[in-house]
Amino acid sequence: MSIAADNIDRWTVVDTLREGGGTRARVLKVKLGDRDAVLKDHAGCDPLFSMLLGPILARRESKALRCLSSVDGVPLLIGRRGSRALLMEWFSAVPFKTLQRDTEFWKRYFIVLEQTLAAIHQSGVAHCDLRSLNNVLVNDHGEVFIVDFVACCFKGRRWNLLSRAVFRRFCRADRDAVLKLKQQVAPELLSDEQWNRLKHVGWFARGARNAGKLIRRLSRILLTR
Ligand SMILES: Nc1ncnc2c1ncn2[C@@H]1O[C@H](COP(=O)(O)OP(=O)(O)OP(=O)(O)O)[C@@H](O)[C@H]1O
Ligand SMILES: [Mg+2]
Repeated sequence: MSIAADNIDRWTVVDTLREGGGTRARVLKVKLGDRDAVLKDHAGCDPLFSMLLGPILARRESKALRCLSSVDGVPLLIGRRGSRALLMEWFSAVPFKTLQRDTEFWKRYFIVLEQTLAAIHQSGVAHCDLRSLNNVLVNDHGEVFIVDFVACCFKGRRWNLLSRAVFRRFCRADRDAVLKLKQQVAPELLSDEQWNRLKHVGWFARGARNAGKLIRRLSRILLTR
């Protein structure tokens, strides 16, 4: 997507994809020139949260999208807008839970989803929020789209063995999250080994999820009204 940098301030709102508030950014579908785009704006969170964490969250997600610019199914970053917002490519797709399809459809879908996730990990990013049913999108052709990299984890430098180990764990938690998604729409596709894996989702994934919930709850209590 090529949009002149000086044009990215001229957009009009087409639709609200998510109302902002509390710790949540406002997510808008906008018209940018003759293209549709998504504006994710942390100024839509509560004021204190937005002021303290908005720039950090927008910077992290922009960095992730930049690292993933060669991965199909991940939105291209169009640009930052101020310190707390980013503009990205819009996908004509819906959260995958909303689509009713047969096993064959989901079989192909999950093959591509697993390939897309592997490419994301190869690029040095773990998503860390794939359990949320709103972050994995699909269209009628069964194409895969992954959005919302705000909670992501980046692969550490070669010498940083601890950070690399943590990154590998987050990658595994992403793969487990995909199994969980598969369980929701097409459990018949799960192999015995995958069922077994689901029964024994590791302490790390559980701990990371609980830590995430705790951080969100604390931020809500301390930084929002
Ligand atoms: N690039 C995109 N193309 C199309 N739709 C998108 C895109 N980015 C986000 N959306 C839609 O907007 C919704 C909210 O975006 P996002 O997940 O980034 O924000 P969020 O604050 O995490 O919201 P939620 O808590 O609902 O996941 C997504 O669930 C998705 O339906
Ligand atoms: Mg989300």
